Amino acid sequence: MHVLRHLIQNAIMAFPPVRNAASKYHHTGRNGDDAGVHDTLARYAGAGGSASFAGKAILELGPGQTPHVLLAMRAAGASRAVGADIQRYQEQEAAKEQGVEIALYDGARLPFPDATFDKVFSCDVMEHVRNPRPLVAEMRRVLVPGGTVFARVDLRDHYYLAVEDRWLTCLKFSTALWNSMTWYRSSYVNRLRLSDWNRVFAEAGFVADYAVIERSERLAELHDQGALPASALRLDRDDASTYRFDVWLTAAK
Ligand SMILES: C[S@@+](CC[C@H](N)C(=O)[O-])C[C@H]1O[C@@H](n2cnc3c(N)ncnc32)[C@H](O)[C@@H]1O
Repeated sequence: MHVLRHLIQNAIMAFPPVRNAASKYHHTGRNGDDAGVHDTLARYAGAGGSASFAGKAILELGPGQTPHVLLAMRAAGASRAVGADIQRYQEQEAAKEQGVEIALYDGARLPFPDATFDKVFSCDVMEHVRNPRPLVAEMRRVLVPGGTVFARVDLRDHYYLAVEDRWLTCLKFSTALWNSMTWYRSSYVNRLRLSDWNRVFAEAGFVADYAVIERSERLAELHDQGALPASALRLDRDDASTYRFDVWLTAAK
């Protein structure tokens, strides 16, 4: 990575008007990808199928440019479908006409009363959250007793998604330098590993049930060879090789 280039790009993106203008050119994920939308829906519906959305109030964290998952949940009978994002990717009025609410917020305090939602989900979002601990506690706060969270979390360095050997390159940098290079940019990742997420979920009072844990044999091999950044070598082999997971969270009794 060219550190100076990233420092400059991040400094420019610190200005909200620049960030807003740039967001028009982002591709946030599943927009225009029908198969991706159906895959997300199927993962989140789980064994109950889309009937599990009927009558439920659902919150999606970070829908980006993709209202489609929430729209499909409404079509399956959800009583309320709300997306909360830190960036204005969708027009609130247009979404509302289709039965979906879009809320913009500061990324810290969810703008909803306690116990508002039966289900909270996020797809490829938690890794981008700047302050994950308080936000996971917020997810718990807005959930009704007995409610569930589903999250798909991608732990890879988003600047090198296409280069498996570089999926842990982001760990090369001190926190201060990494944040100075990426904090205001959409590809920022918080660099938590699976064991860190485990702790975050437990501290917020959740029990975590992992439906999918994806590991890279290549990263495990590089770990064995000592060919990863020093901070990645300090991780245990499982943490170093895990690059994505799906998790269900329920409140601990
Ligand atoms: C990679 S995109 C994923 C978009 C969508 N979920 C999808 O799968 O197509 C990440 C999204 O997370 C949003 N995001 C980042 N931090 C957030 C936070 N603290 N709360 C809610 N959304 C956040 C970004 O603005 C962006 O829309």
